[in-house]
Amino acid sequence: MKAVLLGTTAGGGFPQWNCACALCVRARSGELVARSQDCLAITGDGTGWWLVNASPDIRTQIAGCALLNPGPGPRETPLRGALFTDAELDHTLGLLTLRGGAGLTVWAPGTVLHALKDQFDVRTVIDGYAPVAWREAGPDPFELDGLRVTAIPISGKRPKYARSSTVDGNWVVAYRFEDLVSGGVLVYAPCLASWPEGFDDVVAGAQCVLLDGTFHAASEMGSATGSASGQAAMGHLPICASLPELRRFPRVRRIYTHLNNTNPVLDPASPEAAELRAAGVEVPPDGTVIEL
Ligand code: MLT
Ligand code: MN
Ligand code: ZN
Repeated sequence: MKAVLLGTTAGGGFPQWNCACALCVRARSGELVARSQDCLAITGDGTGWWLVNASPDIRTQIAGCALLNPGPGPRETPLRGALFTDAELDHTLGLLTLRGGAGLTVWAPGTVLHALKDQFDVRTVIDGYAPVAWREAGPDPFELDGLRVTAIPISGKRPKYARSSTVDGNWVVAYRFEDLVSGGVLVYAPCLASWPEGFDDVVAGAQCVLLDGTFHAASEMGSATGSASGQAAMGHLPICASLPELRRFPRVRRIYTHLNNTNPVLDPASPEAAELRAAGVEVPPDGTVIEL
């Protein structure tokens, strides 16, 4: 399998348009490397590609990735569709940019399919341009272009716009991708509220794990922006809590993604980034290609 980290930040990107925190200022000046919003592209057979989440930056992310170039037919594209880990806007808005794409399929947990109809009716909007095949990513594995895909329930964190939803259940999943030929396993979990039961086995059985690295510390949003928002970290296990877990799996390639613009690991010279390097945990830039 081949996977491309198209984007590696939380909603808002780096720098974020309305943020004047120290890190965003340095990214704006070019001193730190800018990053776009969380999105992965993955293929098993090298022919059919799937997005995992569709970020608001998807147009430039696709344009900047030669592996996703359209052709040879005038409207042919290797993109088959998308899998959503959750219903958050930074993971779903990119679908609007892909409107009119022929024959796209979207896989998502039932809660997410419901929210994208009842709370934020992007499904009706998109289907008005070209019908998308909407598929529920339930407990049973399914196969996509040389990959066996399993949705792993992770948490009940729902988007702010869906607070009034009465639908209970798993609002967030991780995806486990297994290459049907090489046997390589990649796990993608950009939104992790806690270390879920059973997740040890998921990590131990993978060659590569991409994990929620939104915040380094739970209090980070408040200190960086001056707002009283201990709440902001809810739904995202901070690195200080997940790193001790990751340290237990030194043989697995471990990568943090979905980094918030306030996260000190965005600065390679920070002590926090040095600590990750010493632990063998990576924060690779946008465009990184992983082959398993
Ligand atoms: C999140 O990851 O918690 C959400 O994307 C927050 C947001 O940008 O709405
Ligand atoms: Mn997010
Ligand atoms: Zn910022």
